[in-house]
Amino acid sequence: MNCESASKCRVTAFMTSSLGKKFTVGAAGLLLCGFLLVHLAGNMFLFVGEGAFNHYAELLAHNELLPLAEAVLALLFIAHIVFAIKVRFENAGARPVAYESYDDKGGRTMGSKSMSYTAALVLLFVIVHLKTFRFGDDKDGLYKLVVDWFHNPLYAGFYVVALAGLGLHLSHGFQSGFQTLGLNHPKYTPIIRKLSIAFALLIFLGFASMPIYFGFLGGPR
Ligand code: HEM
Repeated sequence: MNCESASKCRVTAFMTSSLGKKFTVGAAGLLLCGFLLVHLAGNMFLFVGEGAFNHYAELLAHNELLPLAEAVLALLFIAHIVFAIKVRFENAGARPVAYESYDDKGGRTMGSKSMSYTAALVLLFVIVHLKTFRFGDDKDGLYKLVVDWFHNPLYAGFYVVALAGLGLHLSHGFQSGFQTLGLNHPKYTPIIRKLSIAFALLIFLGFASMPIYFGFLGGPR
């Protein structure tokens, strides 16, 4: 390998190895789970009311660390997707049957079998989400932008379906991430499996509660 120093050489060798790529997918995925928790907590201000949510959004927008946090977030998203695709295709080439079929040591689950489909749905969701909320017209405040969109039943319905896909993705991805990072001791695996389901449910129910409340249960504008 042609690299400048021994340590650079080791990093390059690791990142191009199958284990290195899986490690990157797992580590980036778990860090993205951390973002989801913070984002969910912040969005709960929607239930408090317009003033509280817009105040929270203003505080966030004026935080000077925001551009750095956004750059890290984008990098994590890209690394997670690019390396997951690489692992997926390498495994497909090496095995006659798709990767997910063998991925779950405790047997095939709906979450593990549908990883590629739920990944595509979540990617579509993130693109639509960023276009409407992050780059949408919030001249009347972010609360109004979000809540007006959620009053559109098609938009709210798409959110609920996509968030169910995200939940399914996480029900397998969360535990798989921990296993890849080395936490696969027989003593801990059953606990991590349960934690994974609990986390997926929290994310699905927590986020879906917003489009459901404003879109279908008559939440205020
Ligand atoms: C369904 C409930 C959700 C609501 C109400 C919501 C709300 C928002 C809003 C208002 C913004 C724009 C923030 C701004 O412009 O300052 C935003 C940004 C964002 N959201 Fe969500 N979100 C939800 C779910 C999600 C989910 C499930 C994901 C990931 C799968 C996600 C990923 C993002 C990302 C990556 C950004 C850009 C962050 C940034 O640039 O700072 N959101 N969200």
